[in-house]
Amino acid sequence: MAYVVTENCIRCKYMDCVTVCPVDCFREGDTMLVIDPDVCIDCGVCTPECPADAIRPDVEDGLRGWAAFNARYAPAWRPIARKGTPPPDAPAWDGVVGKLQSAFGVADPSLA
Ligand code: SF4
Ligand code: F3S
Repeated sequence: MAYVVTENCIRCKYMDCVTVCPVDCFREGDTMLVIDPDVCIDCGVCTPECPADAIRPDVEDGLRGWAAFNARYAPAWRPIARKGTPPPDAPAWDGVVGKLQSAFGVADPSLA
């Protein structure tokens, strides 16, 4: 089991999550973060820190695709342990439908 970053992180990228992770398992892409499932210790402290409510345990229904997405990109993206500056328009992207499609060109996270 691991926690996973899901679609609403895209273009919100608040990065509050990285400040609380005890094992620094977040990885940074251009528009969002993912969690390295091989490092995450399932502590769950990041979930309530996300203003976009984008972090979930991978055992929740419907998150298999997002678990695959996190596992795929974690080795390729850079480690991040300090909060950077969120996009200035982050609040405008909170809850927008179709962010995965617009940022990654697919509707299914397992295909990204
Ligand atoms: Fe880090 Fe814990 Fe969140 Fe996993 S569940 S990403 S170990 S804070
Ligand atoms: Fe993304 Fe939430 Fe972290 S928006 S960068 S998962 S605080």
